Amino acid sequence: MKLWGGRFSKETDTLANDFQSSIHFDQRLYREDIRGSMAHAEMLAAQGVISQADKHAIQQGLAGILTDIEAGKVEFTPANEDIHMNIEALLTQRIGEAGKRLHTARSRNDQVALDFRMYVRKEIEAVIGRLLELEKALCGQARKHQGTVMPGYTHLQRAQPISFAQHLMAYAAQFARDVTRLEDCGKRLNECPLGSGALAGTTYSIDRFQTARALDFDRPCGNSLDGVSDRDYALELLSALSILMMHLSRFSEEVILWCSWEFKFVELDEAYSTGSSIMPQKKNPDMAELVRGKTGRVYGDLMGLLTVMKGLPLAYNKDMQEDKEPVFDALDTVELCLPVFTGMIATMRVLPENMRAAAGRGFINATDCADYLTKKGMPFRDAYTATGRLVAACSAQGKTLEELTLEELREVSDLFGEDVYEALKLENCMALRQSFGGPAEAETTRQIQETEAFIQARSQ
Ligand code: ARG
Repeated sequence: MKLWGGRFSKETDTLANDFQSSIHFDQRLYREDIRGSMAHAEMLAAQGVISQADKHAIQQGLAGILTDIEAGKVEFTPANEDIHMNIEALLTQRIGEAGKRLHTARSRNDQVALDFRMYVRKEIEAVIGRLLELEKALCGQARKHQGTVMPGYTHLQRAQPISFAQHLMAYAAQFARDVTRLEDCGKRLNECPLGSGALAGTTYSIDRFQTARALDFDRPCGNSLDGVSDRDYALELLSALSILMMHLSRFSEEVILWCSWEFKFVELDEAYSTGSSIMPQKKNPDMAELVRGKTGRVYGDLMGLLTVMKGLPLAYNKDMQEDKEPVFDALDTVELCLPVFTGMIATMRVLPENMRAAAGRGFINATDCADYLTKKGMPFRDAYTATGRLVAACSAQGKTLEELTLEELREVSDLFGEDVYEALKLENCMALRQSFGGPAEAETTRQIQETEAFIQARSQ
């Protein structure tokens, strides 16, 4: 008979039971479920709701079940629907009477809300750990390439000179925000739903502050109805993971471009590349492509759960059982992508000569040419137009700006002097962009140091 079978005289239809049971995926929550039950029993005993002897029996029984699950000795059954009832049934099987007292002043509704929150809280830490590894790899590559000039792009058109370090540290800034976004989610979720009961709290004199403290929450959720209805933390996690995947996907897209013969800015290590079954010459950036592809699946997980939640009246509805798979899937995906991506970035070989050659074409020092005239006194808008005329002339002759003679330059302005050639050198154009946040070496050093301090602060 089901744990809830009291008012029923018939068994659940087999298909219907398989349909509604969640044990095949929610067994992942066994650690959280057992930890929550132990804290609940502790509190019930402290409040005199159950005896000390029952509490000891319950806690020892649960500890034994935990050991056996970890040793692979427990077989869960769909007959008991979910992880909560599987463990409760096992407990009663093992310790008898006392096991039946565990569910006093509790419902599966606050139980599942508790387990899921604790699971999400733990996984946030795991994802942050992997993100910090990626940050480390980015700092490592950036340190080597502070002087490596490359074209910065807008509209995928060569725009202005930057260093490869500056490009990498832009991604480091995005991933640092992913870390703090996850931390924010962790802070907001840290209220304990246990003791919300089915929806309306309980008449027992429970101590929700004790269980909240024991389970490392900041406080109990303030409204019992909200406590069992809320899945914001799962949605916030999925949003944060979607944004994180979006960053990985943009980065992947660039790695894929950089590996192409059209760019050849980097070469991926063979350990992170694949070949073709027919074309012997191929070396493909499959890891980056898969990360880009898997981004779609994480977005799907977010949209799926948002849609599940949108029409639900308070409080618990069985629809909410659909909250776990998208969260598990998104976490699995992100935790799979991050270490592979990090390895790919840490081992990729950068080809500075090719970046420099690309920077040499496309007039990426045109802004610097206009700035040169502006600094000699010409209003910027006029300097912009004059430089535009020079670019047009160069385009017609297949020349770069620095290949024009002083006479040719003076045709548009007599402010040009010999020093213009220094001003147009790409290395100088980059090195002089010393404004806060710019690509000059002192600024990329600052960015790297701040990122390393960010990692350090989270690695104690
Ligand atoms: N397996 C359920 C879930 O994941 C647990 C809560 C069930 N509560 C209920 N009243 N049916 O949502």
